[in-house]
Amino acid sequence: MCAKQVKKPGEVETTGHEWDGIRELDNPMPRWWLYTFYLTIIWAIGYTFFYPAWPLVTSATQGLWGGTAAGNPRLAVVEEIKRFDDANAPIKAKLVAADLNAIATDPELEGYAKSAGAAVFKTWCAQCHGAGAAGVQAGGYPNLLDDDWLWGGDMESIHLTVTHGIRNTTDADARYSEMPKFGVDGLLEKPQIAEVVEYVLQISGQEHDAALATAGATVFADNCAACHMEDGSGDRAQGAPKLTDAVWLYGGDRDKLIETVTYARFGVMPNWNTRLSEDEIRAVSTYVHSLGGGE
Ligand code: HEC
Ligand code: HEC
Repeated sequence: MCAKQVKKPGEVETTGHEWDGIRELDNPMPRWWLYTFYLTIIWAIGYTFFYPAWPLVTSATQGLWGGTAAGNPRLAVVEEIKRFDDANAPIKAKLVAADLNAIATDPELEGYAKSAGAAVFKTWCAQCHGAGAAGVQAGGYPNLLDDDWLWGGDMESIHLTVTHGIRNTTDADARYSEMPKFGVDGLLEKPQIAEVVEYVLQISGQEHDAALATAGATVFADNCAACHMEDGSGDRAQGAPKLTDAVWLYGGDRDKLIETVTYARFGVMPNWNTRLSEDEIRAVSTYVHSLGGGE
């Protein structure tokens, strides 16, 4: 690099940078480029006057046109949502005020509830219960399409389940019950667990060892009937599943049953009353009730 050279008349000034005899000339910027550049600055300043631009502590300056939907795409969306909400406000109010069992008797109300409920279901419930509400096989997420209910399939029961959830720690009114951990807590010995499992296989119509099952019947009467009932038909007041059919929450084969009796199960569902509004809870309850198993 060498010092700036003295300019001869008519010669373009150099920046003083030179390498191997190649000099960097200091030509002025093209006019068109320069003016475009100034124009963008003017445009930017104008923009900040007319549109939302400068960040403030909790919001941003609105700009002269920012307060109108035409000048603010975000506001346009907000306005649109508000228009829909306003349009639906009367039917939502009607849904909230209606007797739960009367919703299905009003075609307009039921129609709204089912379609709004389907949308709520897709957003909030499908990740656990499956997009089609068929549950997750042996994953502890119940199928909501059938008439096999843990906690009850009438509107009031479904509404209560959805509102407060199941075995969560965030809602004091959540449905709650706890199956004892028979194996882990030493309530039953391994041979007794094997016996009672054969008995459960028997009452659910599966292949089983008859001698063990006979012994298992006594174990069942002493340890399980209080919740699952004498005949294994289950108890909705405690969310204790029916054990006599082919519908299983966690799996009905020998290995899964041994696992269930040894470690117990503790299915948790969140309460929805803090995330969804009452009209949304009623809508999704109506939707679930309408899927086929509603009582
Ligand atoms: C994080 C997973 C999860 C989400 C999300 C979820 N659930 Fe559940 N739900 C469960 C589990 C687990 C159970 C079974 C609990 C048990 O073992 O008693 C359940 C049970 C239920 C039951 C009771 C079924 C019966 O047989 O009595 C209903 C009704 C239900 N869910 C509806 C919903 C609705 C409606 C939504 C969406 C608003 C939803 N669930 C979202 C996990 C979930
Ligand atoms: C205090 C009540 C209670 C007692 C006693 C009890 N259970 Fe349960 N049992 C439950 C509950 C509640 C569930 C559901 C747990 C869940 O949904 O996560 C359950 C679930 C099960 C399941 C899973 C069913 C499925 O669909 O996957 C089996 C199997 C079962 N119990 C067998 C037994 C056997 C066998 C005994 C006796 C040795 C027994 N239970 C004693 C409350 C009880």
